[in-house]
Amino acid sequence: MNTGKKPYKSRTIGDHELAPETLMMGYAFSPELSEGSLKPPIFQTSTFVFQSAEEGKAFFELAYGLREKEEAEEIGLIYSRINNPNLEVLEDRLAVWDKAEKSLVFASGMAAISTSLWAYLRPGDVLVHSEPIYGGSEYLIHNILPEFGVTRIGFNAEDGAKGMDAAMKKARHHVAENGSRVGAIFLETPANPTNGLVDIAHARELSDSLLNNGHRPPVMVDNTFLGPLWQTPTDHGGDLTITSLTKYVGGHSDLIAGSSSGSLEMIGPVQVMRTILGTIGDPQTGWMLLRSLETLKLRMEASTEGARKVAAYLNSHEKISAVWYLDYLPNTHPDREVFERQCLAPGSTFSFEVKGGEAEAFRVLNALQLIKLAVSLGGTETLASHPAAMTHSDVPPADRERLGIKDSLIRLSVGVEKPEDLIADLAQALETI
Ligand SMILES: Cc1ncc(COP(=O)(O)O)c(C=O)c1O
Repeated sequence: MNTGKKPYKSRTIGDHELAPETLMMGYAFSPELSEGSLKPPIFQTSTFVFQSAEEGKAFFELAYGLREKEEAEEIGLIYSRINNPNLEVLEDRLAVWDKAEKSLVFASGMAAISTSLWAYLRPGDVLVHSEPIYGGSEYLIHNILPEFGVTRIGFNAEDGAKGMDAAMKKARHHVAENGSRVGAIFLETPANPTNGLVDIAHARELSDSLLNNGHRPPVMVDNTFLGPLWQTPTDHGGDLTITSLTKYVGGHSDLIAGSSSGSLEMIGPVQVMRTILGTIGDPQTGWMLLRSLETLKLRMEASTEGARKVAAYLNSHEKISAVWYLDYLPNTHPDREVFERQCLAPGSTFSFEVKGGEAEAFRVLNALQLIKLAVSLGGTETLASHPAAMTHSDVPPADRERLGIKDSLIRLSVGVEKPEDLIADLAQALETI
């Protein structure tokens, strides 16, 4: 995996640039190095044998940043908490989709989020972040980071650029009063579960304006809902693209993993933190993700087409008061412009409100026959859940109300079934209210 020139890492044929979906079949893996195996074997090993003590020394020098890399030299394989061939191939392929210099794979989306934040935040720092965010991220930012001296200042995605500006003004004030700094800007867009959008380019402008003594807070973007196909944060100034690979990338609801991608400079501290915290993914899961990547584009296109049909059905249903699907953003809504500039498609996860409250929403959920009642999203099968009582139950009720996570809200992740079958299931379930 680490020998000199690597033709299997070419992304072109002559002048012709190969598309990401094509590269997912073979890029960054050489059958020659693995007994001619078409697919990468699973490197189920904790450690790697050095050819000589000098080689071991050279690998450690690079892994611990004790010297600069020589031309064409790469960090050799040392130990599977530092890296592993399955994950190296996977990281190279994820970096293609994320348009990043380097991707890192983690044991979960939360491992990717927490390790990225630990790499940049220090006691006394302010973390500016969008709301709502996934319940686990919310718990980390709300309950755990304050115990380590990090102050959080959130803004509601629904309030657009104005909300972000107001949060940044508060942050500057806090920084001036306490002689501290903004350590990072964390965005989740579209937001879980409301699909509120956050303008990544605007966050980057604010980050640039905070450049001080060589320190600029990185803009970290949780890209799970639309990534990697329908939104590329690096195109808009995002520094770290964070993804729960558990969702669309894994795509079959059978694994847990995450990734963080960015420039070599930005990802460096995250890689050190991953090695020390031990939050790297495992080879078996890495192998499954390589398999999933081969059909990623097909699955995401199919589920988006299905979601468009299901959303259209729900949007015309008399017992439904709102459908939060990105295609339906009115032209007058500030998110419409952000959507058109930042996203390529609306994806397949969205929420809708039934007329009534929790009782009505529960009746619909309990009556579903084909669609499974489960949290998570991005799988081949369609899932429905109740954010207020499930993924976001930890968010204080007043905040839930403010952020639009109502008791009448049902979240749907549309899979790749025939859309008409999903509509038939929803139709009979909605008859119960
Ligand atoms: C938007 C978002 N980010 C992060 C996560 C966490 O990912 P994982 O469950 O892989 O840790 C989730 C999980 O639901 C999510 O929806």
